[in-house]
Amino acid sequence: MKAAARGLSCAFFALALAVLSPALSAQQSAASTASAHQNPNWWKNGVIYEIYPRSFQDSNGDGIGDLNGVTSRLDYLQSLGIDAIWLTPIYPSPQVDFGYDISDYENIDPQYGTLADFDRLVTEARKRNIGIIMDLVLNHTSDKHPWFVESRSSRTNFRRDWYMWHDPKMVDGKPEPPNNWLSVFGHSAWQWDAKTGQYYYHRFYIQQPDLNWNNPEVRKAMYGVESFWIQHGVVGFRLDAITSLFEDPTDTDENYVLGPDGKPLINAYGDKEVDTLKTDNLPEVHDVLRELRQVADQTHGRKVVLIGETYLRSVDDLRKMYGPHNDELDLPMDMEVGFINRFDTNTFRQRVNEAETEIEDEQPLFVFDNHDNPRWDRYDHNPHHDDVGHVIAAVLFASRDTAMMYYGDEIGMVTTPPTRKEDVKDPIGITGWPKEKGRDGERTPMQWNDGPDAGFSPRGVKTWLPIPPSYANINVAAEEHEPDSMLHWYQQLIALKKSDPALHDGAETMLNTADEHVLSWLRKSDNGEAVVVACNFTDQPQSVSFDLSAQGVHGTHLKTLLKTPGAADPASLHSIQLGPFGVYVGRVQ
Ligand code: GLC
Repeated sequence: MKAAARGLSCAFFALALAVLSPALSAQQSAASTASAHQNPNWWKNGVIYEIYPRSFQDSNGDGIGDLNGVTSRLDYLQSLGIDAIWLTPIYPSPQVDFGYDISDYENIDPQYGTLADFDRLVTEARKRNIGIIMDLVLNHTSDKHPWFVESRSSRTNFRRDWYMWHDPKMVDGKPEPPNNWLSVFGHSAWQWDAKTGQYYYHRFYIQQPDLNWNNPEVRKAMYGVESFWIQHGVVGFRLDAITSLFEDPTDTDENYVLGPDGKPLINAYGDKEVDTLKTDNLPEVHDVLRELRQVADQTHGRKVVLIGETYLRSVDDLRKMYGPHNDELDLPMDMEVGFINRFDTNTFRQRVNEAETEIEDEQPLFVFDNHDNPRWDRYDHNPHHDDVGHVIAAVLFASRDTAMMYYGDEIGMVTTPPTRKEDVKDPIGITGWPKEKGRDGERTPMQWNDGPDAGFSPRGVKTWLPIPPSYANINVAAEEHEPDSMLHWYQQLIALKKSDPALHDGAETMLNTADEHVLSWLRKSDNGEAVVVACNFTDQPQSVSFDLSAQGVHGTHLKTLLKTPGAADPASLHSIQLGPFGVYVGRVQ
């Protein structure tokens, strides 16, 4: 398995760049970007909005969202104040994993439109100072990709080594998987291929065979894909499952993960849970990140941002993802803050503080929601749904970070999982039912209004996932008219993040660090402007007082910039009253 050189030589990479560069420069002018994205720092402290294209806006009435649908909603996104859209995969795909199983990296799935539609989206978004970020799935392809079809055709096929083939372990004369490695989506990560008498490795679904990143030809092909989309004007890539590219070449068993009783934990699929030390975050990942960065940096006059899907074990591992010389990822996702999944002041304080102080001067990327996890209502304190949302959004937008949000967060869309197994679309929900219901609940259609299909589909058709009943009250049209809506809360926070110098890029310091109820922090810009943020994490009223002399801030008066509906303006820094889950943001004067 992976016989080709581990640790690709620099000589190969120089060659690959030499091949790609002329094509890049020839098309640079065609792909010139919006002025906002010519600022090389546009992504720092910006807002990135994730769109699951299947569920955002259906323009042709087939019940599935598409690219023209996204284009038709750009004015709305501009009014929200976002800087970039991350589109989850829109390439041709059998759609087993709804696009994360790609069969052609340089085209658009007809369900979503055409390359011309994509180019129009880029152009129209650029006019509104919005950049497009593509999802780059490098770890695996679809089993229907011609590369894999060739690879599995025979042991001697020239693409055999593009994937991870392995001889079986023979037990009592019968072939068994080479080791106990598990797929993230349940059961063995090895799939038997009777025709050629070997197993192939798949970290995700059986239909998603892993590529062999030790093979120089695989790297060359994927760097070509990267430059293809740069030529089409994208401003960045979200690198899917990027820590999974390499596996330990010894192919030995992982340790079992033990529960408190010393016995292996059993996962939702009924498997004995194993560790991922041999299949995740191996050091060779960093070589690839540097190479991807070199391709991205071939663009002139445009910053192409590399964002990583980085579920890691520690802030130390997160720091390494930026590279020792800032030559790897720009924005590895910090999953430690957003996916704590405990609405607890001390834990939030510790995680936010780590991100602000332990990744040196790098830019943190915070994210609370995506297409793989229940929405922020997972933190819900019934009946305080919206109140909790105010707090989450304040942490996301008033911290010193790049903020990544998920479509529908801004109106408070709620996770709506299927109630019957026969309705499940995400295969892990079928394999794992009822413990694992899959990810349909966070992928339901965007709720635009209270009309047929919530305005998602133009003709009131059967949508690919049902419209959640909550659309009657939770929808864009209604919230645009309500001054105290979640939508306005998001708009105001995003506007402050962009316009207020302290909230834009001011340093961040935690305040009142012994307070178990209220999370508070100071943002201070280089010119001394200071803003305090206080978030009540409880359902009881709280009062806070700040002494900022140690931070060199001497004023005691406050000018309110934003507060949760119904709260009074505080008289001074010494007496800020917060209602249940109340949030206060004020400039010190
Ligand atoms: C990432 C994606 C997820 C997908 C998986 C396999 O984790 O976010 O949706 O299923 O990779 O590509």
